[in-house]
Amino acid sequence: MQLITVRNAPAILAVLLTSALSSATWAAPEIVEACKSCHAEDGAGVGKANVPIIAGMPAVHIEEALYAYKDGARQCLEEPVMCDTAKLLSDENIADLAEHYGALPRGSVDEQFDADLAAIGEKVHRKLCARCHLPPDDADVEDVLGPPLHGQRSEYLRYALEAYLSGTRENLLPEMEEKIGLLDEGDVAVLVNYYASY
Ligand code: HEC
Ligand code: HEC
Repeated sequence: MQLITVRNAPAILAVLLTSALSSATWAAPEIVEACKSCHAEDGAGVGKANVPIIAGMPAVHIEEALYAYKDGARQCLEEPVMCDTAKLLSDENIADLAEHYGALPRGSVDEQFDADLAAIGEKVHRKLCARCHLPPDDADVEDVLGPPLHGQRSEYLRYALEAYLSGTRENLLPEMEEKIGLLDEGDVAVLVNYYASY
């Protein structure tokens, strides 16, 4: 079903971005048009499981992700349109979008989780991941290296973790690569349950 969306999206985007790039400036609310079909205007997403929640993600992390897609360091394995869109964004567009989505409130996804698995996941998180991944409402969330994982959509986290583990998503940081290397397949489930329990 998503494939249909993906095939239609480039045409829509081409029109949208061509008209946008031809005008000198493009205000944040306008450029959000290029993101709405997947992330929705509120950044919570339109309900596609593989689309991460970007509302309330610190602007600095949104910018880093967009530049990583733009310069090809991060690939879009399931949704090429995401990367195609990022490649067309100007520095100004990226700053505007990061500010826009970063300022939006992050609602709870209210997902089901297994409390026993979550308790184990918390321990793994504290030991290996907490230094760089803080909850979205933590006062220091902007200063750590990684984006918030607590309250992120479970399906997306599972996909991202499995992609790191299998090597299809490149690890951009040696220290994270080392920590991810210490995980096994079972840890994915405990971590995903822990982040969903937030
Ligand atoms: C066709 C659907 C689609 C469109 C359009 C789209 N995205 Fe995405 N976005 C995704 C998917 C899927 C991912 C996860 C991709 C991956 O890394 O594999 C993603 C990832 C991201 C991330 C990384 C979040 C994280 O947790 O690391 C950011 C930031 C983002 N998108 C912002 C945007 C912005 C801003 C726009 C508009 C200019 C946009 N996206 C347009 C589907 C889309
Ligand atoms: C040294 C800091 C650091 C450590 C430690 C670290 N990470 Fe990360 N993590 C990052 C950075 C930076 C990114 C964003 C860059 C990227 O996509 O690779 C990231 C991205 C991620 C993502 C993708 C998030 C998204 O929204 O797309 C997941 C999932 C993740 N980390 C899980 C973990 C887990 C689980 C651990 C512990 C086993 C861990 N990380 C340890 C820095 C770290």
